Amino acid sequence: MSGFPAIRPRRNRVDAFTRRLVAENKLSVDDLIWPIFIIEGQGIETEVSSMPGVKRVTLDRLAAHVAPAAELGIPALAIFPATDPSKKDGEGTEAKNPENLMCSAARLLKREFPELGLVGDVALDPYTDHGHDGVLRAGPGGMYVANDETVEILAVQAVIQAEAGIDVIAPSDMMDGRIGAIRGALDAKGLIHTRIMSYAAKYASAFYGPFREAVGSGASLKGGDKKTYQMDPANTDEALREVALDLAEGADMVMVKPGMPYLDIVRRVKDRFAVPTFAYQVSGEYAMIMAAVRNGWLDHDRAMMESLLGFKRAGADGVLSYFAVEAAQRLRGL
Ligand code: PBG
Repeated sequence: MSGFPAIRPRRNRVDAFTRRLVAENKLSVDDLIWPIFIIEGQGIETEVSSMPGVKRVTLDRLAAHVAPAAELGIPALAIFPATDPSKKDGEGTEAKNPENLMCSAARLLKREFPELGLVGDVALDPYTDHGHDGVLRAGPGGMYVANDETVEILAVQAVIQAEAGIDVIAPSDMMDGRIGAIRGALDAKGLIHTRIMSYAAKYASAFYGPFREAVGSGASLKGGDKKTYQMDPANTDEALREVALDLAEGADMVMVKPGMPYLDIVRRVKDRFAVPTFAYQVSGEYAMIMAAVRNGWLDHDRAMMESLLGFKRAGADGVLSYFAVEAAQRLRGL
């Protein structure tokens, strides 16, 4: 009856060795996937204005751009192309060109960095002049992204990317049935080892704004939205249904996107399915942290590492993050 608390959780926080011993989660370099932007042309490196520190590079600069990530042991890159507007059309035809920017980058990177995993974005928005992830046809409520016609194109896009050296096909389009169609198309070509990381629970989010600037799809979209195919931020059960479908269709890994506002979804997916689960800390999340850092309102390294650790705590096996290189440097003590 001393009046002192019998149990003091603070004892396990009293010094660094104890805190290290009782830490439940740990971020490692093995958890990181670095999204990169490539553009057409020669000798160009431009910063994405809403993403300080993030660049778009031409292929002649690509090996130098990527070398630090390879040296740090980051397992994989996710590649996104900013297609020249002259190559965009209503049907996203350039997506099916085996000589397009994405496939050329894949061949180059596989040659230069054979051990580095390559994740290829599959969707039509970098290639369409209207900025949608699929082809537009008359449909419910006016012009509509036509599901089944889009899926046929995505399957071709996936095959040419895999043939160019992409290891992991990552469909970010949210069409119904695309995982099954892509798996079938890959297998028919004997590409049985090509993995599929599906953007299974991808929400119609405000946080993609800076990405759309980076690949030039935002201007094309002209204020339109993607609510007829990306998920409503209000929903959780629907995310589980989407994940179940993609797994049944052959997805090897699933992703939740965006990241920080959707950690509840990451946790539910991991608990329910116990499959490799990834989260995408998207462009707007990066922009938000960097804006505060630039104002002197947040500490860069601490905010970065805490935000990434949050994904591990929520159950993610890995994180796609624009911070990947800097986080890997900190994790390596650099
Ligand atoms: C589109 C795609 C988007 C992102 C990845 N693939 C944006 C969108 O759906 O418009 C966003 C990534 C980011 O914001 O970092 N296929």
